[in-house]
Amino acid sequence: MQKIQPETVTPYFKEIFTLQETQLVDRYKRHLNYLRISITDRCNLRCIYCNPPLPSRKLRHKDVLRYEEILRIARLSVSLGINKIRITGGEPLARKGCCDFLEHLAAIEGLKDISLTTNGVLLKQDIGRIASAGIKRLNISLDTLNPLKYEQITGNDVFKQVWEGIQLALEKGFDPIKINVVVINGINDEELTELAALSFKYPFHIRFIELMPIGKTFARYADPLLVPEIKNKIQVLGELIPVQRNQNDGPAMRYKFNGAMGEIGFISPVSKHFCKACNRLRLTADGHILSCLLSDICEDIKTPLRRGLLDHDLKTVFLKAVEQKPLAHPETLTPLAQPGQMVSIGG
Ligand code: 5AD
Ligand code: SF4
Repeated sequence: MQKIQPETVTPYFKEIFTLQETQLVDRYKRHLNYLRISITDRCNLRCIYCNPPLPSRKLRHKDVLRYEEILRIARLSVSLGINKIRITGGEPLARKGCCDFLEHLAAIEGLKDISLTTNGVLLKQDIGRIASAGIKRLNISLDTLNPLKYEQITGNDVFKQVWEGIQLALEKGFDPIKINVVVINGINDEELTELAALSFKYPFHIRFIELMPIGKTFARYADPLLVPEIKNKIQVLGELIPVQRNQNDGPAMRYKFNGAMGEIGFISPVSKHFCKACNRLRLTADGHILSCLLSDICEDIKTPLRRGLLDHDLKTVFLKAVEQKPLAHPETLTPLAQPGQMVSIGG
């Protein structure tokens, strides 16, 4: 491994580097081993809780990192201790060449876990190549089982296509298949038990996510359904038995119904910050390293990369981002706090 010269980093990192040369540890002693990479800000859906940019506001082609650039940054990150990468968007499968990219990514030595977050629209056509690239873990967004509601939420009448894609993923043996349900009061709140009940029939992890104040559903933020209420609603199906968490678990609180094949998860970005245990960094589609989803502190890695900086100098960009990672995001999330960000960060 190429060594970073301690003099090129700040005193804080001089200290960290002497201790651990291949680990990203922030000033609060959180070990960062997980990188989420958004490969595009574009999406083929327009979910009401997200903010996909209008055609005129999309990133310009030249501003989006090329696949080779992402792969270089991914390799660098792995040499610094990242061992888990999730590919997100926008909608990652909507970017041309995504499956080839996944194959190259999977070939990076030292990377233990690669997963993909998708809205499932293109799963049917891509599932074979995703599987052959070696990806096992999928997160699929599905907020309703009602095709009309699906269209109301996402702006597109493609429920059937997504559901068939999910079934194919199951047949191909993807494990786990996590189904992300953003709970939107007044839209899918009456359907939560039905969604939770999928975990009896299928080995899915159904994850209920509190609506974050981003996107076009502002009126609903005043009265979002929070995890305790969501839990209450679905407990009519039976007792929720906690599942032992493992080291690699993200922020979801995991449960299971007795006799169920799958699991139930709750993610509470609003009611309970999970910042203390946050092990993540994000790479945005336009080449910024973000150390916190809900903070706008970021480091531009694209410019130095395109200027031809050597690996060891690029690594210092990572280190700077890590150094700036806040202990927690702001207590109060205000509507439109981060307009349009989710789609280029990938959640
Ligand atoms: N609140 C909560 N989750 C969101 N996501 C996108 N926007 C929001 C929001 N406003 C999550 C969804 C989707 C993933 C890509 O990002 O769960 O599945
Ligand atoms: Fe697209 Fe995901 Fe945003 Fe929906 S939430 S518009 S699927 S990026």
